[in-house]
Amino acid sequence: MKIFLDTANIEHIRHGVRLGVVTGVTTNPSIVSREGKIDYQKLVQKICSIVPGPVSTEVLSQDVQGMVAEAREIAKWAQNIVVKIPASLEGVEATSVLAGENIKVNFTLCFTLNQALLGAAAGATFVSPFVGRLDDIGEDGMEVVADIVEYLDYYQLPAQVIAASIRHPQHCLTAAKIGAHIATVPYEVLLQMIRHPLTDIGIERFRNDWKKIMAREELL
Ligand code: E4P
Repeated sequence: MKIFLDTANIEHIRHGVRLGVVTGVTTNPSIVSREGKIDYQKLVQKICSIVPGPVSTEVLSQDVQGMVAEAREIAKWAQNIVVKIPASLEGVEATSVLAGENIKVNFTLCFTLNQALLGAAAGATFVSPFVGRLDDIGEDGMEVVADIVEYLDYYQLPAQVIAASIRHPQHCLTAAKIGAHIATVPYEVLLQMIRHPLTDIGIERFRNDWKKIMAREELL
């Protein structure tokens, strides 16, 4: 499973790329707004220059023509740009038009298998089920991801599944186990993924035992 960062924070993205594990980024208007007063296009282009793989950014229009026009402009920003199109009926049509022009679409705000199947059938490169937001309303977000992974594979639809709206490391674990192609994770979750108290205790114990060896050698 590939790891994308779900952020527009340049320092966090640089760190993720330096770690050698972050191969893509997803943004949305809420995520970008957290970066304060910025030039939206410049920020996204900067992210594209740092990240080796796909960088998703969202259209704001809701009608087909508006989404397509916006997406065509966004697609010119960088070679690794992906346009996020929402899982509405208009979004399906826009996805179909854009796929016909080889513009990569991340079919976003998916909450059901039906939505993902339509996005994938229309030619989306990625479909993004939002796990945390489904969990928030008492549904099982990961069950939806599992269904999407299973049925895209069954019908041999090439869209890749991005497990999105990830809230904690357990989500990453389950996404990996059920075969999601990608998990897009907040920076804090990326940091949490590596932590385990037994690792810290183990490192400390090895350091202490090594000091004992050194002390003995000094006595010889
Ligand atoms: C993914 O592409 C979205 O930007 C993101 O995962 C949404 O997460 P949230 O539900 O925490 O806002």
